[in-house]
Amino acid sequence: MNNCLIFTGNANKPLAEKICKFLERPLGRIEVSRFNDGEISVKIEENVRGKDVFIIQPTCSPVNENIMELLVMLDAFRRASPRRITAVIPYYGYARQDRKDRPRVPITAKLVANLLVAAGAQRILTMDLHAPQIQGFFDIPVDHLFAAPVIISYLRTRSLKNPVTVAPDVGSVKMARAFAKTINSPLVIVDKRRDGPDSVEATHLIGEVDGCEAIIVDDLISTGNTVIEATRVLLEKGAKKVLASCTHPVLAENAASKLANSGLSEIIITDTIPHSHLPEKFTVLSVAELLGEAIRRIHEETSVSSLFI
Ligand code: R5P
Repeated sequence: MNNCLIFTGNANKPLAEKICKFLERPLGRIEVSRFNDGEISVKIEENVRGKDVFIIQPTCSPVNENIMELLVMLDAFRRASPRRITAVIPYYGYARQDRKDRPRVPITAKLVANLLVAAGAQRILTMDLHAPQIQGFFDIPVDHLFAAPVIISYLRTRSLKNPVTVAPDVGSVKMARAFAKTINSPLVIVDKRRDGPDSVEATHLIGEVDGCEAIIVDDLISTGNTVIEATRVLLEKGAKKVLASCTHPVLAENAASKLANSGLSEIIITDTIPHSHLPEKFTVLSVAELLGEAIRRIHEETSVSSLFI
């Protein structure tokens, strides 16, 4: 791994440190700071010529700052002659605008993909994209990991009785179906309606939950409204207990306290996005080893597909 150098910006240093610890590699030396007017300043503090460079930077909040940091870092590296640059983006933001669902709106998931490639990314390593087809927005290789193995191995320790997997809306069905298949549980779908960007209502359930322990599976929780509404309906229909699991805890505004005060027994999240001082109901699982192992295999040019199981 001597020719593999791992760097990070300011978006999620604890995750980058854990990945480096797992790989027994030091975090690369780089200074990512701000000029007085807020512009981003980057200085790579070691030689990267001919090296295999990985830059870890989820594009979580502050989203625009973190994307811009990543772009400026990519530019600094491409001018320093490494052999290859991989952008490791554990959480890929701006992904929810992935199609024109109304006239005269942007497709930001594609815009960000274009920016990353223009800035110098030659390969992308990411996790649980909001829509898997976003991979096709890139004309460079994309390795798309799933956090499900980490979440499922934790859930196995919880010995749930009569579990059902719940997709909180139609968009999550594919992810939830794969999850249900792995834990060998029935799949239940919530019929969710959106009244506005942040207002949702869950009205019907497809499937039975009476007497079951329900696990809601989603790629991200932002306002928390989707999961809270699903929980309300599940409890109303007789679920004994409801847990929520999501890969990316976006947790906008007061979502964490709203979720903690809801009928949920536990909220299982990963560390693709950093958070401190979360309420007790939250369980944070680390995806550092999964990402670290993928970095090792990309560097050694061996298959990453066994990590998908
Ligand atoms: C929807 O398509 C996503 O998978 C999430 O369910 C949604 O974005 C969560 O948003 P919120 O927590 O604001 O309801």
